[in-house]
Amino acid sequence: EKEKELIRVSWESLGKNKVPHGVVMFSRLFELEPALLNLFHYNTNCGTTQDCLSSPEFLDHVTKVMLVIDAAVSHLDNLHTLEDFLLNLGKKHQAVGVNTQSFAVVGESLLYMLQCSLGQGYTGPLRQAWLNMYTIVVAAMSRGWAK
Ligand code: HEM
Repeated sequence: EKEKELIRVSWESLGKNKVPHGVVMFSRLFELEPALLNLFHYNTNCGTTQDCLSSPEFLDHVTKVMLVIDAAVSHLDNLHTLEDFLLNLGKKHQAVGVNTQSFAVVGESLLYMLQCSLGQGYTGPLRQAWLNMYTIVVAAMSRGWAK
């Protein structure tokens, strides 16, 4: 349908440059919620935020995040097949001290990155389509916090 098409077409270009787009997203995230930087244990001694953002381990995480988004985009027709993977991913994030409330800020940062890279292509319907997919992904991850 229309929503899936908007996501697929926009990801076609973004997905080719995952790391730079992911860096834009996470720079925004740390601007909005600087404390999240401390959850990356390998980032505790890296000096400025910019130095942290360019550390190899950090860029690895950025790549991992973008690959999860990539997987979600490729599974738009059957997102439920990612449920177990996302639940376990949620558990790992609970273990490193992430709070489910932070996912709202991650979502804002994702939209910010889309806006920066798509420019005119960032329309109301496109924003909503991405938000809907992100909400499904985060809901599945959040189940990892349940007892
Ligand atoms: C692993 C932090 C959001 C995907 C990790 C790790 C940390 C972390 C500390 C373990 C070390 C590492 O692998 O680098 C955070 C924080 C987030 C966040 C603070 C924002 C609140 C996300 C999101 C996704 C994601 C939104 C994907 C949708 C992953 C993946 C791993 C990981 C795939 C590897 C898990 C594994 O080892 O099996 N994250 N993360 N993260 N994160 Fe995140």
